[in-house]
Amino acid sequence: MNPPSKLPLTRRDMLKLSAGSATTMAMPAAVAAAAEPDRSAARAPVTSQVTFKVNGANRSLLLDTRVTLLDALREHLQLTGTKKGCDHGQCGACTVLVDGRRINACLTLAVMHEGASITTIEGMGSPGNLSDMQAAFVKHDGFQCGYCTPGQICSAVAVLDEIERGVPSHVTARLDAPAALTPEEIRERMSGNICRCGAYSNIIDAIQDAAGKRS
Ligand code: FES
Ligand code: FES
Repeated sequence: MNPPSKLPLTRRDMLKLSAGSATTMAMPAAVAAAAEPDRSAARAPVTSQVTFKVNGANRSLLLDTRVTLLDALREHLQLTGTKKGCDHGQCGACTVLVDGRRINACLTLAVMHEGASITTIEGMGSPGNLSDMQAAFVKHDGFQCGYCTPGQICSAVAVLDEIERGVPSHVTARLDAPAALTPEEIRERMSGNICRCGAYSNIIDAIQDAAGKRS
């Protein structure tokens, strides 16, 4: 009786194997290279230089193009007054002013703001020299934990500017005159800024107080 074969390949198996290796050898090098994705290129971050003004000072950063304006401010410029709440546009904690308009800094990329003028809570005032809106928030207890407060204050400043410019909201009764600063009008315009502590009624008082100082 014959001993069992150490290579249990049939003739059919041998034919299949040799056909496969012949195909591989015949594949042009360029086709093989195209079939294999260049993973190193996919992993390499794309960076870009961006220059903007932050609180009146020129700042220039080399950033991964995926960095949000919020992370550029907090992580690269150490301006941690602007807060990260939800990081996807739902809480308003990250509100800053870009060229005078309020914006959720977590929803926009830093490199989109080349040449812009950005104002954060640090640019509004300082502990010894509070802006009218900051002072009104302190006076009316417009906060408890304070986490939402920088965003609330930036938003509130923009709300007063929007009303002065005649920008209507969904609850503005007349479109031919600036909106009256009623609690309903303020609530509607500030609805993108969530306060988990529920300081809403005091925030309304603070905004009305600060508005009175403008006129
Ligand atoms: Fe930007 Fe919440 S952190 S909206
Ligand atoms: Fe705490 Fe608004 S003061 S979340």
